[in-house]
Amino acid sequence: MSFACYEKIEEYFRTKTGITFQEKLALFFMKVSDVMNRLQIHECNEFYEKLQDDEKIFSMLLQELVVSQSYFFREDAHFAIVKDLIEKNFLIHPHILSIPCASGEEPYSIAIYLLEHNCCDFHIDAVDINPQAIQKAREGYYLDRELKYVPSYIKERYFIRLEEGYRIIDRIKESITFLQANLFENNFEQEHYDFIFCRNLFIYLEEKKKEQALAIFHGLLKPKGYLFLSFSDYLKNPCSFDTITINNKIIYQKRMSDEKSGMYH
Ligand SMILES: C[S@@+](CC[C@H](N)C(=O)[O-])C[C@H]1O[C@@H](n2cnc3c(N)ncnc32)[C@H](O)[C@@H]1O
Repeated sequence: MSFACYEKIEEYFRTKTGITFQEKLALFFMKVSDVMNRLQIHECNEFYEKLQDDEKIFSMLLQELVVSQSYFFREDAHFAIVKDLIEKNFLIHPHILSIPCASGEEPYSIAIYLLEHNCCDFHIDAVDINPQAIQKAREGYYLDRELKYVPSYIKERYFIRLEEGYRIIDRIKESITFLQANLFENNFEQEHYDFIFCRNLFIYLEEKKKEQALAIFHGLLKPKGYLFLSFSDYLKNPCSFDTITINNKIIYQKRMSDEKSGMYH
């Protein structure tokens, strides 16, 4: 077994996704070996070559290594802040980016919250690197156990009961565009978003990729737009963002150079 080859694979994976396994190399090697066995590839170098050419192989490895775990109404205090900021700033048709969106739980929760609070004119782009997660998000079908924390009145209003689970209603689906993409490899529209949700990704990223992600978000946000991270992603030094506290939650606001005036209070 060539460790150098496995390290090459880890570096390739880290450069592409930003996710580091340098502290967990044994786990990384084991997961790579599992995928190689499933594909009946016996040579590490052969796997390394195929990984770079074949998106399907990359996505098999991704699914072994990164859990697309999420749940409805996770850290829902953020949604009330978004609603208040929309009202306070008289935002018309605000654009929201949810990245990573996993299997849709986060963008669907935002959309349900906003509609439930009479905020009806918005659009959400929801992005994840994992093709299977995006497929599930587009289907919008969840098993009973995946909705166990969702109050029954919300299920009644925003889901259709099926045999073993629930499907989200079209009104909610229509407010979201799902896209399978890598945060670090995509050309999203600049200065397009009022709010970006990037929760529970930074914890997995190496330092320089966190900086790269912040620079990407700075470009994508409208002047003085807002970035929401999870409490576990807390950044001490969020270069080019101001840290503000609303309702005891830390939010990051795009800092503007002096000559550019902002749209927000
Ligand atoms: C733990 S989930 C977080 C989902 C949701 N934001 C939440 O807080 O519940 C992490 C997700 O990040 C996605 N991901 C990892 N690297 C990514 C990248 N470079 N670009 C886009 N999505 C990525 C994974 O596929 C996974 O679905």
